[in-house]
Amino acid sequence: MLAGKRILLIVGGGIAAYKCLELIRRLREREASVRVIMTEAAKNFVTPLSLASLSGDKVYDDMFDLTDETEIGHIQLSRDADILMVAPATADLMAKMAAGQCSDLATTCLLATDKPVMIAPAMNVRMWEHAATRRNLATLRADGVHVVGPNEGDMACGEYGPGRMAEPGEIADALSEVLGSPLAGLESPRLEGKTILITAGPTHEPIDPVRYIANRSSGKQGYAIGAEAAKLGARVIIVSGPTRLMPPPGAEVIPVETADEMLQAVKDELPVDVGVFAAAVSDWRTASQADQKMKKDGSGKVPSLELTENPDILATIASSKKDRPGLVIGFAAETENVIQNAQKKLEKKGCDWVVANDVSPDTGVMGGDENTVHLVTSNGVEDWPLMDKSDVAARLMERVCDELDEGVWT
Ligand code: C5P
Repeated sequence: MLAGKRILLIVGGGIAAYKCLELIRRLREREASVRVIMTEAAKNFVTPLSLASLSGDKVYDDMFDLTDETEIGHIQLSRDADILMVAPATADLMAKMAAGQCSDLATTCLLATDKPVMIAPAMNVRMWEHAATRRNLATLRADGVHVVGPNEGDMACGEYGPGRMAEPGEIADALSEVLGSPLAGLESPRLEGKTILITAGPTHEPIDPVRYIANRSSGKQGYAIGAEAAKLGARVIIVSGPTRLMPPPGAEVIPVETADEMLQAVKDELPVDVGVFAAAVSDWRTASQADQKMKKDGSGKVPSLELTENPDILATIASSKKDRPGLVIGFAAETENVIQNAQKKLEKKGCDWVVANDVSPDTGVMGGDENTVHLVTSNGVEDWPLMDKSDVAARLMERVCDELDEGVWT
């Protein structure tokens, strides 16, 4: 999906800059054209000559180069591209981007662009984990910047951990995904005429008028799927437990609180073409709810809560004879044996695909912006790399479209 695309590659000053040579080759193999800007610091790691030779174009590095400014100009440089790719995105470059600084040609182009921007961070693990970098990353994401990697592994500085720049092939795939999806407004709406229903967020199961049983789900993954499906032209209905999220553009959000309400709202919307069950539905609710706020009576006696099972929304809809969507996708949030449990769930719940993820506390998935998932189907297991939840959503919707095109579901 990169053929004919114009990529403005901004090479930052980090040891991973050497991987940009391979990246340029990969991009050109895929018939993209690559124009390179390098920062002053990058010149310590890779030469302008090698970048120019591989890209087949001159390398831009000076904002005040009179010839360049008269011939193309820095604003034009950023506008002439389909996407800006920053690799390696050093901690310094990320900080400047997050702050909107424009002190050289690279940062000026990044501020002047109206095109999608992707970064491939690469830095020492402590720099990556530093609160300032986390803040900058969150800001960049909120600004719509796509992020690929970093990967975990041995680092040039002798440490181990996340901070290695994504491999050239992974970066090329990520670019292809962003440029190939209607995200970038380049393709026809592949899901036009289809309705996708998504459950998202937690449920709140009341104990009394002020207390409830809930979980840490933010709803971000489900809403991101809604956003991608809407961009692909689908009619999108999100049946959502309580979240703080804005409805994605083009999606209808039906707010509910409890699992019972969620099931009823889903049933009310059937039939639909695709059902994506991303909600973290509480497995249990209290057998009865107190009409008034429960109070301590001073005796030291602790009330016990009797629980009863909630309906399984996914299993109910997947087994429905009359209204089963053509494609039913479940999620499996697991803290151990992720894939085995997802495979069991595929069968037990009767869905077509299960998107499985590890939600152990140290992954930061619950409530976070990133997710590492495995797509489990009857054909096998696909392991996807660590991605933004929005990139997981885009890839999932791409798979949905592919199967629609192949006639696997109608
Ligand atoms: O059984 P478990 O909760 O791990 O299954 C996860 C999948 O089942 C998710 O897709 C979730 O949305 C769905 N589910 C449901 N109703 C429930 C429990 C889970 O739809 N009561």
